[in-house]
Amino acid sequence: MAKRLFVKTYGCQMNVYDSARMADVLAPLGYTSADGAEDADMVILNTCHIREKAAEKVFSELGRLRKLQAAKAESGGRMILAVAGCVAQAEGEEILRRAPFVDIVLGPQTYHRLPEMVARASRAGGAVLDTEFPLEPKFDFLPETRAEGSSAFLSVQEGCDKFCTFCVVPYTRGAEYSRSAAAVLAEARGLAAQGVREITLLGQNVNGWRHDDGWTLGRLIRALAEIDGVERIRYTTSHPRDMDDDLIAAHAEVPRLMPFLHLPVQSGSDRILQAMNRGHDRAAYLRLVDRLKQAQPDLALSSDFITGFPGETDSDFEDTMDLVRRVGFVQTYSFKYSPRPGTPAALMPNQVPEAVKEERLAQLQALLLRQTEAFNQSCVGREMRVLLDRPGRHQGQLLGRSPYMQPVHVRMGDSSLALGGIARLRITRVHPNSLEGIPA
Ligand code: SAH
Ligand code: SF4
Ligand code: F3S
Repeated sequence: MAKRLFVKTYGCQMNVYDSARMADVLAPLGYTSADGAEDADMVILNTCHIREKAAEKVFSELGRLRKLQAAKAESGGRMILAVAGCVAQAEGEEILRRAPFVDIVLGPQTYHRLPEMVARASRAGGAVLDTEFPLEPKFDFLPETRAEGSSAFLSVQEGCDKFCTFCVVPYTRGAEYSRSAAAVLAEARGLAAQGVREITLLGQNVNGWRHDDGWTLGRLIRALAEIDGVERIRYTTSHPRDMDDDLIAAHAEVPRLMPFLHLPVQSGSDRILQAMNRGHDRAAYLRLVDRLKQAQPDLALSSDFITGFPGETDSDFEDTMDLVRRVGFVQTYSFKYSPRPGTPAALMPNQVPEAVKEERLAQLQALLLRQTEAFNQSCVGREMRVLLDRPGRHQGQLLGRSPYMQPVHVRMGDSSLALGGIARLRITRVHPNSLEGIPA
């Protein structure tokens, strides 16, 4: 019987990938996708634990879903409610205590077992909790990835052994694990056969990907570039510590590797970088950026920043502003430090007052926004190859991504433009959240 599944995703791209894979796992059970929780027989919240706000969202959403679930039960139906992802991993028991109407709680490493969990939940008799870190990697049990559209994520690496003092990921995702080169290349070929033209390799430390016989990410990217149809390659998120010579060289040598790199630095202060346990200093980051730009002069960079890490002084913060001015970023994510349960930084003395975190964040974001705007403005008049992967918001428009991840929209009507195609566009205007182009 046809059943409807609705997956709501929070957090990072790994979660976006996992959500799609959970739908793939449940498809053989007859689940097709629902437009919203209202008409779903099963709802999965795929959650994020990275900051307090992200985690709290889950409980308010559960309150809303409980009403839908009750209404469905009253009309003789059933809605299975599952909580997956990083909040589930970190607070599984707590979820079942605070929200006993939840049927399934599962961590990021056990979703290949979903069919069995659904069967158990359907037989009623209490909730199912599975937040193990199983010995068998889930990837070995997942069905073939169904592609949607011309751009796809491909998860190659998971977990983190870096233990930055502020971060929950090593606890929610587990130890670093790399999939085999053969498995990754097979998945990429499958995606290409379904019409995918851009692949973004994903990992919490994607450039820490390694495999037997000396495989590292640079070599994997070169092998991917040989696959017919894979015209664009990206990878995210990289750790500065894992950026090796071969990967830097790939930026010079592989034209299909896009000239855009997300390389989070978090802070520009040596003292704070050390307290964060990032494993590199400011000079090392600046050197790395220089080497990358030597390899690929066209390279644009993006980063994550945290303001108000414990002990951060005005002068530490000024070091961050200075680093931002030196490097110049085209796209960024910046956050106030959020103390997370179980992490060392949460227990550090000298927590920074909320108001100071906010003030610094506002200053930093103003500078970063100016940089993004200046970069966007510098694109006017340039020709770029844009992957048109979505219909635009307005009728008769297509929306795509530039090599630098900027959204670009273009009016249809030219025979050279087709959904899923890569078009050569000349950028004509900058809008607040996108660029506009015409066929070049
Ligand atoms: N593996 C990546 C980042 C993963 S988490 C890396 O090492 O860079 C994504 C981002 O969330 C981080 O880069 C960081 O900027 C932010 N973040 C993580 N923990 C945080 C916390 N406790 N408070 C505020 N921001 C946090
Ligand atoms: Fe978190 Fe640091 Fe690991 Fe990134 S490298 S996931 S910030 S612990
Ligand atoms: Fe969030 Fe987990 Fe990703 S905590 S950022 S969903 S790895």
